[in-house]
Amino acid sequence: MPQITVTEHVLMQQKESPMASGRFTRLLNELILAAKIISREVNKAGLVDVLGFTGEVNVQGEQVQKLDEYANKILIHRMERSGVLCALASEENADLVRIPCGFPSGNYFLIFDPLDGSSNIDANVNVGTIFSIYKLEEGVNTDNVGELLRKGAEQVCAGYFLYGTSTMLVYTTGKGVHGFTLDPSVGEFLLSHPDIKTPEIGRVYSVNEAYWNYWDEPTREAVAYFKGTDNERGKSYSQRYIGSLVADFHRNLLYGGVFMYPYDSRDPSKPHGKLRLLCEANPLAFVIKHAGGLATDGVNDILDIQPTELHQRVPLVIGSKRDVEKVAEIYKKHRG
Ligand code: AHG
Ligand code: MN
Ligand code: MN
Repeated sequence: MPQITVTEHVLMQQKESPMASGRFTRLLNELILAAKIISREVNKAGLVDVLGFTGEVNVQGEQVQKLDEYANKILIHRMERSGVLCALASEENADLVRIPCGFPSGNYFLIFDPLDGSSNIDANVNVGTIFSIYKLEEGVNTDNVGELLRKGAEQVCAGYFLYGTSTMLVYTTGKGVHGFTLDPSVGEFLLSHPDIKTPEIGRVYSVNEAYWNYWDEPTREAVAYFKGTDNERGKSYSQRYIGSLVADFHRNLLYGGVFMYPYDSRDPSKPHGKLRLLCEANPLAFVIKHAGGLATDGVNDILDIQPTELHQRVPLVIGSKRDVEKVAEIYKKHRG
């Protein structure tokens, strides 16, 4: 059976677009190459851990940090040379990363979380790279960060690489959500999950329930809804929480379910939860939307939020449509 590579797939999708110039294909190809390099390093770290070459917690701790930094460096190095970006933004960089003088630039804006879930890496748990792409108008002023910040609905592409049992790429340009698995023997991502649709009602809820005492009443009511039997399914949902957003999201995308990282009162200086709007919530919200699901902060559709800061945090409820709607309904009822 002929296998479709991700490059062929991107080219086929781009052919349908009258705006296609090859620049977007170039951007994705560079991103894919960076992810292959990160995947190689992440896999080695797992091997070292499994075989106990170092054994010491401290060394493993350092390695985790190195991998976070490594992933960030690889992505910036490759992407700033791609010739198609006007700027980059990373979870690991406080400020915008500008294209160095003398390098060609373009009008795509790339935002990424280089290694999501990296605190898990010493336990060989799945981690990933999440990305979000915007196409800005010619001549946009990159000195003014505010001019670059757009609603998630304006993304032209979003997705993630998951470094798991196998390495996967899941992406959408708004024409379906497609999953590819890296075949290490040929070094290519091959189409393995065409046109992913997430179930309308899930069977899993994913939340860090240790924070129950710090949640507000509507959040507790929403979680109680999934734990109990008085729900649309008529039976309890299963609870699954890896602690790697990208891995929790991916499982729920395939099986159906809802992931929540709501506001909690542990740290009142963080009134908007933990996750970041631009590099975590928006790209995954774009993916879930095109797979038939939904994402909300409890009041607004995530994709409709106008960002005001690069590292803005947001409460996140994301997954199967009916489950997310139910949570939003509970929040609404409590607002009165
Ligand atoms: P990152 O590793 O990029 O900093 O993100 C960590 C995030 C996310 O992956 C995960 O869902 C969440 O942290 C887990 O937080 P808790 O340990 O508070 O549940
Ligand atoms: Mn993250
Ligand atoms: Mn990260």
